Amino acid sequence: MSRVYNFSAGPSMLPESVLQRAREELLEWGESGMSVMEMSHRGKEFSGIAKKAEADLRELLSIPADYKVLFLQGGATSQFAMAPMNLLRGKKKAGYVATGLWSEKAIAEAKLFCDVQVVASSKQNHFTSIPVQAGWQIDREAAYLHYTSNETIGGVEFGFIPESLGLPLVCDMSSNLLSRPLDVSRFGLIYAGAQKNMGPAGITVAILRDDLLGETVPGTPTMYDYQKQAENGSMLNTPPTYNWYLTGLVFEWIKNEGGLAAMEARNIRKAAKLYAAIDASRFYSNPIEPASRSRMNVPFRLADSAMEKLFSTEAKAAGLVGLEGHRSVGGMRASLYNAMPEAGVDALITFMAEFERTHG
Ligand SMILES: Cc1ncc(COP(=O)(O)O)c(C=O)c1O
Repeated sequence: MSRVYNFSAGPSMLPESVLQRAREELLEWGESGMSVMEMSHRGKEFSGIAKKAEADLRELLSIPADYKVLFLQGGATSQFAMAPMNLLRGKKKAGYVATGLWSEKAIAEAKLFCDVQVVASSKQNHFTSIPVQAGWQIDREAAYLHYTSNETIGGVEFGFIPESLGLPLVCDMSSNLLSRPLDVSRFGLIYAGAQKNMGPAGITVAILRDDLLGETVPGTPTMYDYQKQAENGSMLNTPPTYNWYLTGLVFEWIKNEGGLAAMEARNIRKAAKLYAAIDASRFYSNPIEPASRSRMNVPFRLADSAMEKLFSTEAKAAGLVGLEGHRSVGGMRASLYNAMPEAGVDALITFMAEFERTHG
């Protein structure tokens, strides 16, 4: 067996020790005589697994007691609709910050339900920076303020939590939740698909403040109602039990590695060395304003774009995969989530230098 360094934007690498533990427990979990995949979601064993996952997430993020934690399906994309369906609460407008393709998707979905006010946008500079907060036009009548803390495709990341003038702050943290410590109490709602820093695709975490629950737009389907999901322990229907279990193993792994401060320190080191290598070269370039650069997703271009295919092929032969940029933007992209070891980044930097030496 030879495992590669997988730089995919998601689904992405999982910690090897998590996969090994899952393998050990694949046929029988504990003394249950069965795999987690075969368990009833209402049984004692799975209830314990689900509760532990929530408790570990609460501990990692110091989630205050007046917040619910939900484990949902439908990906972050469903949250683009669930957020307005649940948080408009009789209001007709919501504020959104436009920083890239993911926030634009969230905006498009919100428009199905309300008047979207774009309070700030970096579209004019092709989403290569996070707009400084000073000029934002926040309407106090809006139901909430939504932003995307890390744009997975563009490679820009917020280095600050925006001031929302008392509006509930809503954030799509799909690609950087658990990559650094976070003050959850600043938010009304946080949501994230698991498949970057938390686990396999197929499960989505939502963390939301109690006082925002209970008033949905008319016609909201039961599955899309946070209150009903919370009342039923995220088990209104059969949940993705195995993904929930794996996500719980990742939470345990993060705790054992030293928690979010340790994740952040490692993520800073990994991103800093890759950006330094790109900046030091004439062959590679990253278009993002330095203060807005993402620690999670590092897009880069080759001086000669015709060499991108060759770059991917040779990288793959060197055990470095998933480096192609998103299909909408092209170029290359290295995703450096929690489970990417520093040795993987070192191997990428060495490969890039060698590729430049031979083809540059
Ligand atoms: C920032 C961000 N938001 C939303 C999504 C959509 O997530 P999903 O595919 O889980 O619906 C992604 C997926 O890559 C993402 O990176």
